[in-house]
Amino acid sequence: MDRGHLGTAVAPTERDDESYLDFVEGLRVFNMSKVQAAMAERAATEPGAIDQLPIVASRNRLYRSQQEMMWRGVIETYRKRQDELLRELDAAERRGPGRVEWDPAFVYPDYYAQVNYHLQPGGYATDPLAGYIYHLGTKVFFTGRNNTDDVQRQLINLAPAPRDGQVRRILDLACSIGQSTTAWKERFPNAEVWGIDASAPMVRYAHKRAVDLGIDVIFSQRLAEETKFPDNFFDIVYAFILFHEIPRAVGERVVQEAHRILRPGGLFIVVDARSIDPQAPTPTQQVIWGFETTDNGEPYMWEFVTWDFNGYLRRFFRTVVDDYTSGSFLPMRVAEK
Ligand SMILES: C[S@@+](CC[C@H](N)C(=O)[O-])C[C@H]1O[C@@H](n2cnc3c(N)ncnc32)[C@H](O)[C@@H]1O
Repeated sequence: MDRGHLGTAVAPTERDDESYLDFVEGLRVFNMSKVQAAMAERAATEPGAIDQLPIVASRNRLYRSQQEMMWRGVIETYRKRQDELLRELDAAERRGPGRVEWDPAFVYPDYYAQVNYHLQPGGYATDPLAGYIYHLGTKVFFTGRNNTDDVQRQLINLAPAPRDGQVRRILDLACSIGQSTTAWKERFPNAEVWGIDASAPMVRYAHKRAVDLGIDVIFSQRLAEETKFPDNFFDIVYAFILFHEIPRAVGERVVQEAHRILRPGGLFIVVDARSIDPQAPTPTQQVIWGFETTDNGEPYMWEFVTWDFNGYLRRFFRTVVDDYTSGSFLPMRVAEK
C-alpha cells in the first residue's frame, strides 16, 4: 500500500509498521540520552573498571538490539511491496533530470562485500532495495533528521568554497542515497555535481530520489579509491562518513585519489569521527569505538579513529584545517590542494 512519503523517504507500508519504527526510534533516543549519559558519568568516576560496569553491557545490548529491530522493521515493511518499489527504480532510470550509471558485472572489493555495515543485513549492496532500506533505517538512526536531509544540508551549508570562488564541478564520494549530492547542487546550482558510490542499489535509489525532487545530478557506481576521473577535474571533493568504513590502506588510496582529481586550489572536505589518542583512549572512547568495531558492523572504526588522519592529509595537501565547523556533531576537515 502506498502511504506517501516521510520527508523524502518512502513511508512504511502499513500504519502499524510506522508505529513500530517510531517506537524503535524512541528506544534509540532513550539509549543515547539516558543510558549512554549515565554510562559516561559512571566511567568518569570509576575509570579503571568500565568493562565491569553492568551499565556498559546494558548500553551495548540495547544499542545492538535496537539496530537489529530497526533493520528488521524496515526490511519487512518494504518487502511487502518489493515488486512495486523495484519497478519505480527501473522507471526512474529512464527519466531525468540527471542520470545514473551502474554495472551489473561490478566486482565489489572483499573488504566491502564481507561487511554488514551497521548490521544492515547484506550490507550496502546485496539487497536490491538497499537504498530504500538505508534511507528509512537512517531516519531512525539519526532520530528523524535524515528523512528530510537536515543532517547533510546543514553540513554542506557550513562548508567553505575554494578561495577563488570557482565551483564548476563537485564530487560527492561514497554518496550512498545522494542526500549530500542533491544538497551540493542546491547550494551551487550552476555546478556539475557527481555522486559516486560502490553500491548499485544505492546509486539507483539516489537517482530515483533526485528525479522525484527534480534535481539535476549525476550518479555513478565507482570506487572512491579508483574514481576514473581525469586529473585536476573537480573544485570540491566531499566525503561524509566514508573513511571509518574502509580499511586504513584503502583510506590512504582515497586521500591520494582525491588529491589527484582536485584542481590546484580545490578543496577536499571530509566529515567523519574525531581522532583519539591511540596510546591513551578515555574509558568512554574505548567502550564506544570498541563496541562499534567488534559488535556494530563497523570493523574498520578503531583503525580509523586511532589513525593520524590529519597528519596523512598534510602529506599531500597544502593546508589542512582540522575542525572547520568547530562544534558540529562530527568534525569537518578541510584540505586545500
Ligand atoms: C555511511 S554511507 C555515506 C553517507 C553519505 N555520504 C551521505 O552523504 O549521506 C557510506 C557509503 O560508503 C559507500 N562506500 C564504502 N566503501 C566505498 C568505496 N570504497 N568506494 C565507494 N563507496 C564506498 C557505501 O556503499 C555507503 O553507501
